[in-house]
This record gives sequence, C-alpha cells and structure tokens, in this order.
Amino acid sequence: MSDKVYFFDTTLRDGEQCPGASMNLREKLEVARQMERLGMDVIEAGFPCISDGDFEAVNTIAKEITKAKVCGLARCVKSDIEAAAKALEPAGDRARIHIFLATSKLHMEHKLKKAESEILRMAAEGVAYGKSFVQDIEFSPEDASRTDLNFLAKVVETVIDAGATVVNIPDTVGYTTPDEFYHIIRHLKENVPNIDKAIISVHCHNDLGLAVSNSLAAVRAGARQVEGTINGIGERAGNVALEEVIMALKTRPEQFGNVEIDINTKEIVKTSRIVARMSGMQVQRSKAIVGENAFAHSSGIHQHGILNCRETYEVMDPVAVGWGTTELPLTKHSGRAAVKARLEQLGHALSEEEVNSVFERFKKVGDSKKFVYDDDLSAIVDDSLHSHSGLWELDFVQFVAGSHARATSTIGLIKEGKRYEDSSTGNGAVDAIFKAIDRITKKKGVLKGYSVHAASEGKDALGEVTVHVDFGLAKPVTGKGASTDVVEASARAYLNAVNRSVRLAEMPQTSSVIEPTI
Ligand code: KIV
Ligand code: ZN
Repeated sequence: MSDKVYFFDTTLRDGEQCPGASMNLREKLEVARQMERLGMDVIEAGFPCISDGDFEAVNTIAKEITKAKVCGLARCVKSDIEAAAKALEPAGDRARIHIFLATSKLHMEHKLKKAESEILRMAAEGVAYGKSFVQDIEFSPEDASRTDLNFLAKVVETVIDAGATVVNIPDTVGYTTPDEFYHIIRHLKENVPNIDKAIISVHCHNDLGLAVSNSLAAVRAGARQVEGTINGIGERAGNVALEEVIMALKTRPEQFGNVEIDINTKEIVKTSRIVARMSGMQVQRSKAIVGENAFAHSSGIHQHGILNCRETYEVMDPVAVGWGTTELPLTKHSGRAAVKARLEQLGHALSEEEVNSVFERFKKVGDSKKFVYDDDLSAIVDDSLHSHSGLWELDFVQFVAGSHARATSTIGLIKEGKRYEDSSTGNGAVDAIFKAIDRITKKKGVLKGYSVHAASEGKDALGEVTVHVDFGLAKPVTGKGASTDVVEASARAYLNAVNRSVRLAEMPQTSSVIEPTI
C-alpha cells in the first residue's frame, strides 16, 4: 500500500454548492490557482453538465492549472460524462472524470427506482464509457456509508474491473461514525479481490460534526485519498475541512500510520482567506487552524507559558500553517510597481489593465486609511475586478441618517457611459441605498442575507460586505463589495449582485433532473 495520502479539493464543486457560496469564473480561477500553490493533488473544478458557467469554469481551470489533476463531476449518464470529458480536454493526462451513482437502498428505491443488478450494470458501463475519454476515472457510490456492505463491495469490485482508478466512499449525509467508517474501509480492503488496483478515497460530510474524525479513521483503515473543502464549506453542515485533516496527520503522524503528504502547509491560512473572500462564507473566529483565535492566547497563564516555551499551550507552530507572515503594509505613497509586486506575492495573477484599475482604487483607499494591509489589498482586488463591463457601475453614494431622522440615500450609477441618479428613503441608510439602486436598475431584489467583515485590523479597515439577494432566479445571487465606508461597501455589494443577476439571467441553465440511463 502506498503511504502517500492524496488530497482532493472540492471547494469549487461541493463547496460552491452550499447556499450563498456561488463564485464567478474569476473567483474560481483564483481559488484554483491557490489550491495548486497549496499543493492539492486533485482539484474538482465543477459539474460541467449542470450549466454553461460550470462547463466554462472546468474548461478554463483545466487550461490554467499545470501541476494538479483537474476533475469534473458527472452523473452516471452518457451526456454528463461527455460534457465532463469535453470540459477537461485541455488538462490532457491530468484530467479525471468523477462519476457518481447512488447505491444505498433508500436512494435506489426512492430516487433512482432501480434494482441492484441495474445499478451494477450502469456503474460498469459508465466507468467504461468514461475510460473511452480519459485514463483516470473516479467512481463514487453515493450514500456509500448507508449502503449494504456486501453490495458496496460488489459495486467497488465491478467499477475497478471496468477501469476505475479511484473509488471514493462518500458519507453523503454525514451519518457514519469513526468506528463504523473504519470498519467499512477495512471490509472493502479485505473483501474486494481487486482492491489493490485502485486508490480508496473518502468524502465525508459534517452533519454530526464527525467529518474530520471519520476521514482520519478511514486513513487509519487504509484510505489513501481524502476529499473535502477548505474551511469546510459545502452543502448543509459542510464537507470535511481539509486543513484540519492535513494538520492532524502532520501533528500526530504516529496515530495514522506515518503517511506521507505533499501539502505546502504554509499556504493554508492564505488559502482559507481566499476561499472565505471568494465564496463570501466567513470563517468562525474559533475555527481550528484558520480561525482568527486559533492561536490567540488571552489568559495570563497561557501567555506566560507560551513566552517560556511555545509547546506548553500550542500543539503546532502557527508559522507552519502560514500565520504571522504579513509583510510591511503599503501606504498611499507606494507606487504602482510596489503595488504590482505585492499583488504578485499575494498570488493575484492580473493583467496590466487589471493592475491599473486596482491601483486606481488603491490610491483612493490609501487617501482614507494610513496603512493598506495585504488583506485590504486583496479586498480591493476583489472589489475592483467585480465590475462587469457593460453593466452598472457605482458613481457616488450620499446619505443622511441618524437615530431621529428618516434615512435618505441618493445614488449615482453609470451604465455604458450614461449617468443615472435617484434617491429613496428607507429603514436605515443601507436599506435606502438598496431601494434607490432598485429604482434605477428596475430590479426588485429581496435581501436574504447581509454580513460585514473587517478585511484587516484597525478602525479604518476596509469593510467587506456580502449580500445574498433573491431576484427570482433559481437561487439567491451573492454580491460583494469593499470600502472604508460600510454604507458604500453595501452599495457596491448590492450592485455587484444586480450585475451578477443580469449575467445569470442571460445564461441558459441545464436541467438538474436525474435521468439515470447510460
Ligand atoms: O456527498 C456526495 O456523495 C458527493 C458525491 C458526488 C461524491 O458529493
Ligand atoms: Zn459531497
């Protein structure tokens, strides 16, 4: 058995599936590039058949990523497999198609309405069909942890015979427990005759808060690929947080068979921040490894202990996961070359034109705040590059509000060179601004979520606002904006959501109804 554990990141597929986390192409590309710097072995870039946007994202990431394998998801149907193969073409022999088909009694009876024999036939045919396009096929028996163990073993054997290189065992609904999952993986290792011809992978959801423990139990049992997301984002309670699994394996190797891992752990914090910023899903302060408080010691006893000997209260070195590596901040006196160099260090691959627009915004921000920290700069990048050409741009915001005054906002927008202005009253300045934007853009958005987050330290930090707005499309649209003024940041975020909704409404969406025929 190889001693390397491969990491498979599905932040851009399962992670992006969680309500409110949708990312556009630029954001996905930025996440994918950072995953590669982190050393992810496989990047699942999307579900190509589900929409033109997903197809384009997988296709672009397959072109841009040069080291990691790039994977596309497909149901066990010909049209999905063809779409994945087409989207992945630029990745050449680094392309992987991930085919899934449910195998639990519940799913077979109520969702697929298929008997075991049909499932076995479809699985074999699906893998063989995928194999006609790419060498690397991963197969997932969906809801594996609730599948009859003997049938699961039969499915695994069948797909390996058909050519699957990786067999992934998903705990789709986060139901299993560490002992049980250990037993499932051991059962497969001991009872599937051809098991050594494929890598066993695991994919744990966190409904019972057991995803990390379950993934680690599976590694102990012999699984050699772990799938998950950074920050644990994903459907419902999320997927396993890969940074936690990675650091558990690094910190307690003797507990998990001293497996090898090729992850550049110093990139973890940066990756977490990029994912949080791009997905709009903020990280809880006390979250292990990447939360703001993960290495903060406030009690005097702890601080004293740490000063004498770090190991007294820290089980890992914060520097090893990328904390404490901040460079000197930029100021309004920093020139374009310095800003460009810092952008490159931060991993933003921007065109000259994009650097110009970031620099223009940087100068404005530099006038209103003394230091521009790395996180401020990343927020500026995110904000400046959000604008969609040909759509609405913010010209100005003005508002009057206070505890005894009815809030009134006036907003100026620009579209195709033409200026528009309107005002509205509202329940606070932000509400008034959103209403004024609706009046100009003739949209009627219903705000489903609103959050504000300080990009860096200090009272003058850039405020990053994320909104989730229902415009009557298939799902709420996420918008983001940043400014030292949170009301302006709110206007930018809402406008960003309006622009995204316009783009989304133009895109044809493929049906997601499952038609399980091959
Ligand atoms: O949770 C799940 O079962 C999945 C599969 C597609 C692997 O995400
Ligand atoms: Zn999943």
